[in-house]
Parts: sequence; C-alpha cells; structure tokens
Amino acid sequence: MGANGVQEVNGNSTSNIDNGKSLSSTAPWCPPINIDNINPKVLECQYAVRGEIVAHAERLQQKLLQDPSSLPFDELIYCNIGNPQSLGQQPITFFREVAALCDHPGLLHKKEIQTVFSSDAIKRAESIVSSIPGRATGAYSHSKGVKALRTIIAEGIQNRDGYSADPEDIFLTDGASPGVHMMIRLMLRNKKDGIMCPIPQYPLYSASIALHDGTLVPYYLDESKGWGLEVSELKSRLEAAVADGINVRALVVINPGNPTGQVLSEENQQKIVQFCKDENLVLLADEVYQENVYADNKKFSSFKKIARSMGYTERDFSLVSFHSISKGFYGECGRRGGYMEVTGFDSDVKNQIYKMASVSLCSNLSGQVMMSLVMNPPKDGDESYELYSSERNAILSSLGRRAKMLAEALNKLERVSCNEAEGAMYLFPRIELPEGAMKAAQAAGMVPDTFYCKRLLDATGIVVVPGSGFRQVPGTWHFRITILPPEEKMPTIIAKLTSFHESFMQEFQG
Ligand SMILES: Cc1ncc(COP(=O)(O)O)c(C=O)c1O
Repeated sequence: MGANGVQEVNGNSTSNIDNGKSLSSTAPWCPPINIDNINPKVLECQYAVRGEIVAHAERLQQKLLQDPSSLPFDELIYCNIGNPQSLGQQPITFFREVAALCDHPGLLHKKEIQTVFSSDAIKRAESIVSSIPGRATGAYSHSKGVKALRTIIAEGIQNRDGYSADPEDIFLTDGASPGVHMMIRLMLRNKKDGIMCPIPQYPLYSASIALHDGTLVPYYLDESKGWGLEVSELKSRLEAAVADGINVRALVVINPGNPTGQVLSEENQQKIVQFCKDENLVLLADEVYQENVYADNKKFSSFKKIARSMGYTERDFSLVSFHSISKGFYGECGRRGGYMEVTGFDSDVKNQIYKMASVSLCSNLSGQVMMSLVMNPPKDGDESYELYSSERNAILSSLGRRAKMLAEALNKLERVSCNEAEGAMYLFPRIELPEGAMKAAQAAGMVPDTFYCKRLLDATGIVVVPGSGFRQVPGTWHFRITILPPEEKMPTIIAKLTSFHESFMQEFQG
C-alpha cells in the first residue's frame, strides 16, 4: 500500500480503495499546500530587508552575469542589509584563530601551530575545547548553551556593566533573532496582546508579532530630534492601546537604533526603565549594535546597567537583553551566534523558556564559541592584543568616517534630509518626493519610496530598502542605506547616488 491508501502494482497506482476516488484521472496534481491555504499569518508577515527590491536586484544580478553590457552599471552594490563581511570587511584574526582551532581540535596537538597561531589563541581554544562536553563543536550542547561559555559571557556582562550576571539567565541563540522570536512567542497569547515597538523599526519585530498573531503597538521616534525617544509618546501610545482593549505586555527598544542610528542618553534610558516599571511592562532591549557608536558625545550603556543603577533588581524588574555576533566590528552574521539575558521572571516562566529553547535542541556551537570571544576579547598583555585592537579600531573608525561622509552627501541632495548615524550601521534619509514622482509611483502601482528605490537600483545597481519596510510617519518617505561598502568605494557610490537623484528630481519636478 502506498501513500493515501493507493495500492501499487509494479510501481503503477491502480485504484484507491480507501476513499473510493479514482486516481487514474488525468487531472494535474494539486499540491496539498498552496498559497491560498497556508497559514495567513505567514502571508501577513513582511521582511523588507530581503523584500521586493532585493528580489529585483537578484534578477538584475543574473542579467549582468548573462550579459555584462545589458545594464547601465557593472556591479550591484548591496547596501540593503547589515552584512559587513559580504561587502569585504575582514574577520578579526584572534576570533578566527580560536574558531579554527576549536573546530579542528586535532590541530592543538601539533607543534607547527605555534608558528601559525598566536599563543593566547591556542590557550583560549584549549580552554574552550576542554570545557565543551566531548571536546566537540559538532555535538549538541545544553539547550541554553555550553555552561562554561555562558559563564564567560556572564563575566563579560559583569565587566561591561559593573553589576553581576548569572550564567543561568543566559540563553545562547543562533543570532539575536531566535531569542526575539522566543520571547514574542512566550508573551503573545492572541491578537489582544500587544508589544510596543519603535517606528521606524527593524522588521524582525513586526514580522515576529504578525507570525505570532499579536498586535504591534507603535510608538514614533522623533525625526526632528535626531530620532529621539520621548516618554510622553510612549505614554500616549500605551493609553491609546489600552483604550482599544489591548493588553500591552512589553516595550521593545533598539539601542543603538536600526534603521535610525540614534544612541540613547543614560537619562533617557532611565526614563524608559521607569516607564516600564510604572506600567509593569517587560523591557526587551535590543543591544546588538552596542559596539557601533561613532558620535564623540555618545556612549552605549546597557539597559541592565541602567536598571541596576536605579536600584531595580531581578526581583522587581523584567528585562530581556539581546546581543549578537553579527554586528559590532566583528560582523560574523553568517556564523549565527547571540545570547539573551533573561532577568526578572519567575523560575516557572524561565523553565518554560528553557523548554522552548530545548525544542530546537541548542544553538550552533561555533556561534556559541564566537559569542564567548566577543564578550571576552584579548586583554592588554596578551600576544593578540595589539593586533586585535588595531583591527577593531580600524574597522570602527572607518565605519564612523563612512557614516559621516554618506550623511553629508545625502544632506546635500535636493529635498533630502538625513540625521547623522550616532551608532549602528545605517542612515535613514527622508525624501520629499515631488508630486510627479508620487503620481508615477501610483501609476506603477508602487509605494512611493519603493518606486524611488527601484529607480535607484535600475539606474545605479545600488540596493537600498524603502522606508515603508520599517514603517514611518504616514505621508513621509525614506530609505535605509548601510554604511558598509568599503571606504574607498564610498566616493563612487556617492557620485552615482547624487547623479541619479538629480536626474530623478529633474524628471519629476518639471
Ligand atoms: C536591531 C536588530 N536586532 C536584531 C537583529 C538580528 O540579528 P542576528 O539574528 O543576526 O543576530 C538585527 C539584524 O540586522 C538588527 O538590526
């Protein structure tokens, strides 16, 4: 008997004796799952960072491959996603030395490695490998991650913040994203449950809330104040949601901001913590860009540090902090490593989070190792320290210069204004589209900023993400561009962008 109760004779189906339907009909096969009967929440969920503009870019890439002279440019420049190594950023040597030795521990017994790897990388790899059960990065670990690595990460948090961290509160994840999904899944019971998110926001949040059938309660960042986060705005949006019958459960803060690049002041953070405390909300602190701060007058402080410095503890404040190996100066996106630190929840709830983590068995071990290195890099006096510091400083200072250069160029464009990127990896310029462009977008059946981004792509090969993918104040239009292309390419990119923008304005303003 084959599938569906079909009796197979010499590989041919005869009749279906179970349900009486003849299968010998010549009607074409219909897959049981089609676009009209999949989970509608999947259809609802949008992720613009890899959305329609990127799909179009991939088609153009194919076209270029087949005929390099078919387009007005000879390469695509992917400024749509914070993926530094895909644009040529080199990995940090110490991190990769340790990673290589951990993944191939047989090397640790070979004398020759002394001439190839730094002594502290060898020592670190030995210590990590011996702390992993089975000495194998190819084995499953504890579902929260290897205990010894969580301990190193907890110590790193403690060194960063000056307040203790418990390895039992750390869940190692495949990048920050699975941790965010897990917390959203935990908190959303139905459409009446809401999570407050910044607008503009990184679309992981809107996508995850849609998938888990909850309600996104927006609060708007103030573009005229450098994308400032005002507590009065939080209050009024919360009140409106409550009046609509929404149980608001948590507040998401992305600091430094994506796509907006602002770095919050400690004073502002204190007010946000107080707001969450007063309203009994969980604070979901997305801190994946914590090492990407470029403005001289700004510095990153974790929400954990702020909450503890205000006297709030594990017993009276619920905070989940997310971090990742994908960003910073290491940009190890493809290795998928991250953690969430879950504090201020009952042990019953923490056990349920642990159970959810267990359903996926564990995060990948190479990502776990990398996360431990990010939180415990070489120290002054270690053989690798000098090289590590110079690689780190070179990447961060170049990112700062690129952010400045690009913002200056964008601000020179007609009808464009752009806040500086104090941190993170993006600029989010606002464009006042002329009436003619609005009409042309409508005629093309496109959202106006998508229309602009598609025209930019078609003319220059530069791939950016329309502001509508992050949501924005209705009636305003933006796009997000990363600051990641190599510094030496920036002048060319700026020239292409400027010349496109001028001709776009000429075409539609006239
Ligand atoms: C604000 C923010 N949070 C989370 C993530 C997820 O990153 P990952 O899952 O690679 O750690 C990103 C990625 O761009 C991001 O920008």
